[in-house]
Formats: sequence, C-alpha cells, structure tokens
Amino acid sequence: MTTDNSAGTGTLLVSAGRVHGVNGASVNPPVHRASTFVFDTLDAFETASNMPFDGPFYGRVGTPTTFAFELAFAALEGGHRSIATSSGVAAISAVMLAFLDKGDHVLVVDTVYDPVRRFCNRMLTRLGIETTFYHPDMGADIETLIRPETKLIYMESPGSGTFDVQDVKAIIAVAKARGIRTAIDATWATPLLMKPLELGIDVSIHAATKYIVGHSDAMLGVVTTNAETYDAVRRSTQDLGACAGSEECNLGLRGLRTLEVRLRHHEASALKLALWLEDQPQVARVLHPGLESFPNHALWKRDFTGSCGLFSVELVESDPASVRGLVDGLHHFKIGFSWGGYESLILPMHPEKSRQVAKWTGKGALLRLHVGLETLSDLQADLAEGLDRLRPL
Ligand SMILES: Cc1ncc(COP(=O)(O)O)c(C=O)c1O
Repeated sequence: MTTDNSAGTGTLLVSAGRVHGVNGASVNPPVHRASTFVFDTLDAFETASNMPFDGPFYGRVGTPTTFAFELAFAALEGGHRSIATSSGVAAISAVMLAFLDKGDHVLVVDTVYDPVRRFCNRMLTRLGIETTFYHPDMGADIETLIRPETKLIYMESPGSGTFDVQDVKAIIAVAKARGIRTAIDATWATPLLMKPLELGIDVSIHAATKYIVGHSDAMLGVVTTNAETYDAVRRSTQDLGACAGSEECNLGLRGLRTLEVRLRHHEASALKLALWLEDQPQVARVLHPGLESFPNHALWKRDFTGSCGLFSVELVESDPASVRGLVDGLHHFKIGFSWGGYESLILPMHPEKSRQVAKWTGKGALLRLHVGLETLSDLQADLAEGLDRLRPL
C-alpha cells in the first residue's frame, strides 16, 4: 500500500490506504482479522519483531488493516505517523500518560470533553500528576500558569458544548520556548478543517468515532504525532493495550472515502440552521464558531477552513418542562450522546456542573445540536415546531 502525499485532499481520501498496482485487487482492502501472524522460520519471526509497527507481527501491535488506516490518516494530517486506538478517550489518555510522570503538572483547557476532565481528576491525581484547568481565552498569558514541572499543555478547540476557539498559535509559541509538549483534541475539525501539526502542535488527537467513521457504528480513536513524539505515544498505547480492532479501522477507512462530501453537507445545513435560529425569539444565542456573532470568530477564521454540523443553542429562560417537551417532541433530532454520524442529534448540555474557570453564565437551557444529512427543510420544521412548544417561566 502506498500513499501519494502530494495528491489533493479528495484524491487522498479516496486512494489512501488502498491496494494499488495489483491486478484484480478489490476496491476496499480486505479486512485482516488477526491476533496471530505465523512465520516459518525464527529468522523471519525475529525480523518482523524488530519492526512490529511496519508489518504483521502480533494483532495488538497492528494488522494490515490497522496499518492501512494509520497510513491514510497520517497522510491526511501531514504528520509523521498515526496510531489507531480503541476510542477517542483511549487516544487521549494514552497521550497524557506518554508525557506525564509522578510529580508532573499538566495544563488542560477548562472546556475539555468531560470524560477527559474525569481522567485528569481521578487517574492523573492517583498517579501524583497535578492538573490545572485553564480558561479557553488564554493565549500567550498561559505562561503565568506554567511551573517548572509543567510537561504538557492540552487543548481542545473548539471546546466541548460551548465551542470556545483557542489561540492555538500563541499557546504553541509559549510551549515551544519552554520545551513543553502540546496536544490537541481536534475532533470537531477532522483533519480537513484544521491542520494541528502544521500549526506546530506535537500531537493531534481525533475521536474517529465521530465524523471519521461517520455512521455511528464503531468506536475508534487516532493520534497523529510528529517525529519527536512518536516513540513515546506508541509506547504508551502499547503499554495500555489500547489497540483498535481491524473491523473498526476498516470502518474508519470507509468513512474517510466520503468524509469531504459529508462534511460539506453537514457544514452547509448547520450554518443555515444556525443563522435561522439566531433570528428566533425563543433563542438567546447560537454558539457556532462560523457565525460572525461568535466570540473568537476571527481566531476560527485564522486557523480553520470550515465548520462541521455540531453547535449549541442557548434558549431564552423558559419553563423547564417545556424545554423537555421541545426535545422529546422532535422527530428528526434524536437524543444521543455521540455525534458525527449521518443523523441529526440533540443533547442538553450542563457546563455549569463541571467548569472551574470558564464559568457558564447562560440563564436559559443549552442544547447541543448535531445537524445530520436529512433534508434541511424537514430539520428546520422540526426545530420550529419544537421552539413553539417552549413556554416562558
Ligand atoms: C471532542 C470529543 N473528544 C473525544 C471524545 C471521546 O471519543 P470516544 O467516545 O470515541 O471515546 C468525544 C466524544 O464525544 C468528543 O466529543
């Protein structure tokens, strides 16, 4: 399998990780389900064991299918190498444990995906690693939070639930000057809408469970590193046994083929709905980085080339029972935890419960929407009927 790194994005998405130059090859590479690869001689076995991440050796280390996905992803991200993991959270915890040791300190953005906050508060605390949650508006002033034992700055941009966009470049500059590693959860953007490694980040992380798989039928994570950080992250994912299954990597590869067209559709529908929602009297504000009204819209324009289908809406203060009625009565927006599939979803968010420094001051209910690939007029009518069910306090 080869990958032409100079190809355009669409070409790369269609061709990366496939079998080329073999007559009669199936379009999609076969799925290699394997724990064990066998060798006829000890010489051959030992040769394979010297390069376990470059060819079949043992299933947990990789199969031809996981390698194909990793190769394709690294090409898309413009990174040194990618490593597939069993979920997005597995990828994130492996990255943290790759760079943090007893006595170390990590800076984590306060708008982080909640299970990551739990990982820091529970697991890292048990291991004697201290976390400081910093405000997503911090840029160069993050310097004030750095200690001699700070080893990692962790970003998520846009952040979970409220989509705060970070000044990634300013943070990277501070980290580089201090020899501190940087990592970002770039799930919202996918590798198509932002290029963390080109911006200078050491490690980019994606919950491939979302748009990469794109069909809500698999859990998958992926980490892309630069040359300096690859060994540490690979060791960590191996030590944790956090490998991805071949079936899941195959679904990740399948998702890549249509990622660009799906994302364009999600983006267009979500932007239209977001603009329409801004004009509705029952809506206090719309939190979508692509809207001019969004705080840090300029930063988003600087670092991103587009948006996806995920954003939030703050309603005006309303009778809580009627908010439940709004959500329960929707036909196309189902209530669901994940996002990034072809279907529309809705979920109440509660940033007030977890944020430490980026306190949520909104008064009305906050609803996260994932705008799927359904016909836009159906989605708009569904939401319009839902908003009509709201009652004032
Ligand atoms: C921004 C973000 N990062 C990471 C994750 C975790 O991914 P996974 O569910 O694959 O562990 C999620 C899941 O919702 C997410 O929204």
